[in-house]
Amino acid sequence: MQNSVPHVIAVSSGKGGVGKTNFVVNVATYLCSIKKKVLIIDADLGLANIDVLFGIAPKYNLKHVLLGQKRLQDIIIKGPNDILILPASSGVRELTSLNKFQKIQLLSEIETLNIDLDVILIDTGAGIYDNVLFFCSSAQDIIVIVTSEPTSLADAYALIKVLCKEFKKDRFKILINMARSEKEAFNTFRKLAIVADKFLNLSVDYLGFLPYEQHVKDAIIAQKTFISLYPNSSFSKRISNLGDKIMNTSQEGVGGIQLFFKKALGVV
Ligand SMILES: Nc1ncnc2c1ncn2[C@@H]1O[C@H](COP(=O)(O)OP(=O)(O)O)[C@@H](O)[C@H]1O
Ligand SMILES: [Mg+2]
Repeated sequence: MQNSVPHVIAVSSGKGGVGKTNFVVNVATYLCSIKKKVLIIDADLGLANIDVLFGIAPKYNLKHVLLGQKRLQDIIIKGPNDILILPASSGVRELTSLNKFQKIQLLSEIETLNIDLDVILIDTGAGIYDNVLFFCSSAQDIIVIVTSEPTSLADAYALIKVLCKEFKKDRFKILINMARSEKEAFNTFRKLAIVADKFLNLSVDYLGFLPYEQHVKDAIIAQKTFISLYPNSSFSKRISNLGDKIMNTSQEGVGGIQLFFKKALGVV
């Protein structure tokens, strides 16, 4: 039996390349350092690269489970600092079109998962695709990452709009990434908040910002997380603060991987 009920947090964006994966791996590394048990679901079918950032190579993925070739617990791998990773980039597309029998099979696999977790971070991929909506619509919390580029803002708004109108989601945490200043970050947030309020009657939350940090690339080249390579930098401090904030402001309510998948598969 699981001892705890983990929070399920989807990390998404309207546009790709805004820093989702980088954020997920670094926040996960921080949360592990404060003894939280973390599972990352790598669900970006276009550009899955959690494994690359961690320098590991998973042999099996969700597709093997959906094909009945592997058990769910066999595909979950351990990354650095005991972070658990569920490689789901392959198989995610199929998730949105499972028949009833396949849904029951997957849910029974999930029911038997016996891991103790505090938080599940889902790297969902970008855009208003079924697979992204599948994960966002059923998570307890949704973090939308945005940069100051107008295209990133417009696409983030489009994602929020679909989740609000079609999936009745009304809580979004906005993280501005690669900001050149705090002022620029807040201005970007304000633009999004104004349109969300005006056209969707929705109040979005400001999670915070991460500055543009040129050494992020060095960490990626070294296949290490930034936070483990430069633990004392101000960027790492910001990641830690964001990690604390995520844990402290997670939506109340029943979480957990079982309920998450039941909701996503339309079973509850
Ligand atoms: N705060 C940042 N400062 C500088 N570069 C960043 C930052 N966040 C992400 N990047 C870079 O942006 C690129 C895209 O990031 P990634 O996390 O892969 O985006 P996504 O997962 O949203 O597609 C990567 O090359 C990464 O090094
Ligand atoms: Mg990515």
